[in-house]
Amino acid sequence: MTDTLNEPMVRIEGLRKSFGSHEVLRNIDLTVMPGQVVTIIGASGSGKSTLLRCINLLETPDAGHVWFHGKDLAAEHVDVNRLRESIGMVFQGFNLFNNMNVLDNCTLAPVTLKKMNKQEAERTALAHLESVGMGEFAHAHVSTLSGGQKQRVAIARALCMNPDLMLFDEPTSALDPEIVGEVLEVMRALAREGMTMVVVTHEMAFAKSVSDEVVFMDEGIIAEKGSPQKIFTAPEHARTREFLARYLDD
Ligand SMILES: Nc1ncnc2c1ncn2[C@@H]1O[C@H](COP(=O)(O)OP(=O)(O)OP(=O)(O)O)[C@@H](O)[C@H]1O
Ligand SMILES: [Mg+2]
Repeated sequence: MTDTLNEPMVRIEGLRKSFGSHEVLRNIDLTVMPGQVVTIIGASGSGKSTLLRCINLLETPDAGHVWFHGKDLAAEHVDVNRLRESIGMVFQGFNLFNNMNVLDNCTLAPVTLKKMNKQEAERTALAHLESVGMGEFAHAHVSTLSGGQKQRVAIARALCMNPDLMLFDEPTSALDPEIVGEVLEVMRALAREGMTMVVVTHEMAFAKSVSDEVVFMDEGIIAEKGSPQKIFTAPEHARTREFLARYLDD
């Protein structure tokens, strides 16, 4: 890509989204710079997933703009498939194909969408599987894996498309507490390598240690954003303090 480091990878302005009469996103502005890790925290229903889904056009905004690499995603000529090739997404549910082995899950999109040859796709996939500690499971059937292993494969699979941006929507929420750490460790490593990431999470310790910026959403608006230092130790708004107090109690 041709970005310089001073140009945002994602710029969101005046974003609004309603479902029926329920305005779920109310005038969101957000900028994500290349290499930044932005985490989004907030109560259930505050609009975190909807915001994430507007970035890769899984949801169509009602108003406002989302630019990716300077390109307005509301423009008619935007190629949604190309866009999604550049943006990896990892969900709470693992979204792997259960009837395939790990390697085939990872090579499917590069071969079918990017027309990569099979050998090259497999080489790439094995390298990414190694990087998430799943190399030795390349030929295992997805159905035999633990939740944490599936989620690490889901991350490797997304990386196989060589994305510029990774979106994570509560990637550890469905996992048993004892295996949350292995997935967060993979995400930490990815952040250290300079991957640009937007992460919706309830893992406050992770958000505190990895984020360049933390965004607190409350009923469809960004109530507060700032450095982890500011948000976790000196939040300005009462709503942020209440939310964090509830979380830190749990
Ligand atoms: N496709 C949809 N149709 C109707 N309402 C929706 C749809 N998607 C989301 N909503 C509603 O929009 C609101 C925000 O949802 P969203 O999933 O963005 O919240 P969230 O912050 O991600 O919550 P959670 O922490 O529970 O995942 C919720 O009230 C939800 O019920
Ligand atoms: Mg959500």
